[in-house]
Amino acid sequence: MKKIKVKVPATSANLGAGFDTLGVALTLYNEFIIEESDSIQIETVPKIKELENPDKNLFVKVLKAACEYNGNEFHGAKITQIINVPVARGLGSSATAIVAGIIASFFVNNKTLTDEDFSKIAYQFESHPDNLLPAWKGNLITATVDNGKTYYSQIDFPDDLKAVVVIPDFELSTEEARRVLPKEVFLEDAIFNIQRVSLFLAALTNKQYDLLKVSMNDKLHQPYRKKLIPGFDYVVNAALEVGALGVSLSGAGSSMIALADKNFDAIGKAMVEAFKNAGVNATYKVLDIDKRGATVEVLA
Ligand code: HSE
Repeated sequence: MKKIKVKVPATSANLGAGFDTLGVALTLYNEFIIEESDSIQIETVPKIKELENPDKNLFVKVLKAACEYNGNEFHGAKITQIINVPVARGLGSSATAIVAGIIASFFVNNKTLTDEDFSKIAYQFESHPDNLLPAWKGNLITATVDNGKTYYSQIDFPDDLKAVVVIPDFELSTEEARRVLPKEVFLEDAIFNIQRVSLFLAALTNKQYDLLKVSMNDKLHQPYRKKLIPGFDYVVNAALEVGALGVSLSGAGSSMIALADKNFDAIGKAMVEAFKNAGVNATYKVLDIDKRGATVEVLA
């Protein structure tokens, strides 16, 4: 093996009521091409100067940590990062780097990657399995960590639904979006979410798409986070008015996600317009749900 490419999907966590629980992989990918080398050389496409600094590059940090975990010293690599997942927009860009670093290291060292290995390395860098697991495994995933161990299950997302993702032109860090959350919540709000996330999973499984709108409502994070997203309610309503089945913040934001079975472009345009009316420039993408998760290809 002289050269490999690891391709990792973007993710959208939470999907409304499934806060810190659900995540789905999307057909938008970051690619990491790694060649043998004795030094670290990084090129990013498009060029992001900060990421070309090995000390600031998350993928390199994870690659090193994963090599050390396997008892090997990291000597270097020539890395080309093709970045399609926008940074700090609630689409799991960090998760792509973490998953790619772990997978590349295990592949190069010819080691089988277990769930336990993955958790031990990944959680050093990010504590949210609702992003990490769909990026690794693909599809819709429900995940929990209990006594330090991760438990998860993959649910096949219906093929007739697409995700319309609207990406505003401002970044929002997960730290900032978690800082606005309360430490305690009302029992009735917790019940509100448990009911809706259960309904959401049943609605997808039974193809009862008329239930998606109510089941993507949330009282645990979006009411607090929407202060950070100008036009949040207008964007939700604009999407629903032109036929979206359900709408939520994507991950910790700033992107929003609408699930739909038709009118995809009309929904994207309506959401972009609603953001514009709130003074925010945005773009949209119509995406499918990725069913494969991260992949490795040997290039040379
Ligand atoms: N579930 C997490 C959050 C995802 O909403 O804060 C962020 O990575």
